[in-house]
Amino acid sequence: MIKPHGSDILQPLYVADPDARAKLAQEADTLPSLLLNSAAAANAVMLGAGYFNPLSGYMNLADALSVAADMQTTTGLFWPVPVGNLTRETGITAGRRIAIRAPPVEGNPVLAGRDVEAVETVSDEQIATMAGQIFGTNDAGHPGVATFTALGNQLVSGPIQVLNYSYFSSEFPGTFQTAVEIRGEIEKRGWNKVVAFQTRNPMHLAHEELCRMAMERLGADGCIVHMLLGKLKAGDIPADVRDACIRKMVDVYFPPNSVMVSGYGFDMLYAGPREAVLHAVFRQNMGATHLIVGRDHAGVGDYYGPFDAQTIFSEQVPEGALAIEIFDADHTAWSKKLNRVVMMREAPDHDKDDFVLLSGTKVREMLSEGTAPPPEFSRPEVAEILMAHYQSENA
Ligand code: ADX
Repeated sequence: MIKPHGSDILQPLYVADPDARAKLAQEADTLPSLLLNSAAAANAVMLGAGYFNPLSGYMNLADALSVAADMQTTTGLFWPVPVGNLTRETGITAGRRIAIRAPPVEGNPVLAGRDVEAVETVSDEQIATMAGQIFGTNDAGHPGVATFTALGNQLVSGPIQVLNYSYFSSEFPGTFQTAVEIRGEIEKRGWNKVVAFQTRNPMHLAHEELCRMAMERLGADGCIVHMLLGKLKAGDIPADVRDACIRKMVDVYFPPNSVMVSGYGFDMLYAGPREAVLHAVFRQNMGATHLIVGRDHAGVGDYYGPFDAQTIFSEQVPEGALAIEIFDADHTAWSKKLNRVVMMREAPDHDKDDFVLLSGTKVREMLSEGTAPPPEFSRPEVAEILMAHYQSENA
């Protein structure tokens, strides 16, 4: 199986031994605690689940600045986005042991124990510089920039021992999986070549076909549809609805055991190219050999060029930094001439009117009105679930 990023074996920060975990939980009750924001809690969940291998905890300021600027830590580990615990005034000092508690779970239970190595003040200028490097913009209208610049100016760094997966394991018990569990399932299924599909949306026909094309062209044994289960911006479809759509589509339209439906506990950054690289890192950690990167991957509005998330791999990721390979996909849509979904670059004789193209706004409008988009755009089973969702929202 493909090696994890940066180490020979996966080193998740979840404390797997139940006795050790119980002891740490007991200790945590006696420690000062820090309530995390959602971004920092999501980082802990990713560290615990092995997705952020080989990091041992939250980055300090020197590493965060280095990663934001050059995509590598001060010790030279390739890493695309700072993994930090930025927060407001903490009252916590370096050298202490603390418990970190996770919102938004009732009672804010302890998420992890940790040794605080440093508490550093990050200047507004440093925050702005990092935001510009990560998101490619400082526009406060960008949802990722808005979140990142409002986290606070205290950076609390050091190793952590993760005790649970916050709300992800309880709210999405059939879908949330750790990188360890996914590696186990890949092995059980006997897959060698495994292609991952990142998504934060319900899957329409173009997405389904993208997975099918990638599997066929790569000669892959299987595909993992790996959906984001964390926080999104207003207007994005909630995870449980997406999950239902994706499971239905996979059940009806893919051969048994060819597609795994799974999810990870992280908030959407909307960082376009940098987030695509992070996606590749953690898909390698979960055992995927390929990641599909299509049009406007992890993008928002028109902050990024439609294929910036592909070119970053050839232009900015150093040769050999990652073992996972990228499956570049062009804009994909139904061709009225060929009666099938195609990548546009593979239909050079077509013009725009030869494709069935619907904007996100148009699709939302139709679904809210109870009108199913055409079958060339959406599977009827998926449209039905989405219409029920929009109508319950409007009720
Ligand atoms: S993302 O933010 O998680 O990337 P989304 O769920 O919409 O958003 O996209 C999942 C993947 O499908 C991404 O790799 C994206 O680039 C790709 N994709 C979505 N729609 C299309 C399309 N019409 N043509 C080509 N690629 C697409």
